[in-house]
Amino acid sequence: MSDRTPAPTTIPAADRAACFAARYAGATDAPGDGPWSPVVADLMNHRSVRGFLPDPLAAGTLETLVGAAQSAASSSNLQSWSVVAVEDPARRARLAEWSNHQRHIAVAPLFLVFVADLSRASRLAAARVRPAAALDRFDMLLVAVTDAAIAAERLVVAAEALGLGTVYIGALRNRMAEVAAELALPRHALPLFGLSIGHPDPAVVTAVKPRLPQALVLHRERYVTPDDEADRIAAYDGAMRAFEARQGMAVLDWSDKVLNRVADAASLGDRAAIGAVTVALGFGMT
Ligand SMILES: Cc1cc2nc3c(=O)[nH]c(=O)nc-3n(C[C@H](O)[C@H](O)[C@H](O)COP(=O)(O)O)c2cc1C
Repeated sequence: MSDRTPAPTTIPAADRAACFAARYAGATDAPGDGPWSPVVADLMNHRSVRGFLPDPLAAGTLETLVGAAQSAASSSNLQSWSVVAVEDPARRARLAEWSNHQRHIAVAPLFLVFVADLSRASRLAAARVRPAAALDRFDMLLVAVTDAAIAAERLVVAAEALGLGTVYIGALRNRMAEVAAELALPRHALPLFGLSIGHPDPAVVTAVKPRLPQALVLHRERYVTPDDEADRIAAYDGAMRAFEARQGMAVLDWSDKVLNRVADAASLGDRAAIGAVTVALGFGMT
């Protein structure tokens, strides 16, 4: 992996200290030394890509990526996820429209929809005339969602290792029922999120987006709310404001983004109602 050609948008981060400095905007409280590997460097260099070239992917790319995704761990090896690969421009355009008109869905040559998929188990039970009463239990939904998310992230890591760019599309859930119908999903199959994949446009520079300090995220033995949580969040707001200004993005405190999102159900838009859609698609909440 270490001798691969770096993606055009990759900012070289030579060592552990540089990776930590970039990820925590210079505010890392991690010790200076520790185990390190090029794989971890690649993970810490992740950034979402929203500027794509329309160029097609090399033959066999999709199969390589899905092989990496299927190599992920899976709860009880039930493998309760699927992925729908959408290349058709008209279908991508429709999915883009339903996802707040996000342009990258229409531009990038490949759009993957990750599906929490209990339909295989359901079909298996029907074919063998066996009961499947647990299918509508909430834990089965959690199992399938977790499997799909873990597999998707493995696919993202593989894509980045191949020099490709990706961006997840949670806005796909705005129109969950329509997406399920568009992709002909069977009952017990839930579209969770999309992923645009393509060659990054070298004219669009991306950067590592700072994360919260580890002191707020990492708890040792038991969860302890840090005394200085408010101060550390204020410092992180400052780091994010600086990042957004550098990137030419709208400047908004991270804390305001969180507060806006959790203020009321209306802030979720159509997603406020996906509990009912999830049940209608065959999943249970009990
Ligand atoms: C489940 C999920 C859904 C997301 N949905 C969107 C989306 O609809 N549109 C978008 O531009 N980015 C989306 N993102 C990307 C996040 O905005 C991005 O990961 C976050 O801002 C951190 O930036 P980074 O990935 O560059 O580190 C999503 C990410 C995840 C994990």
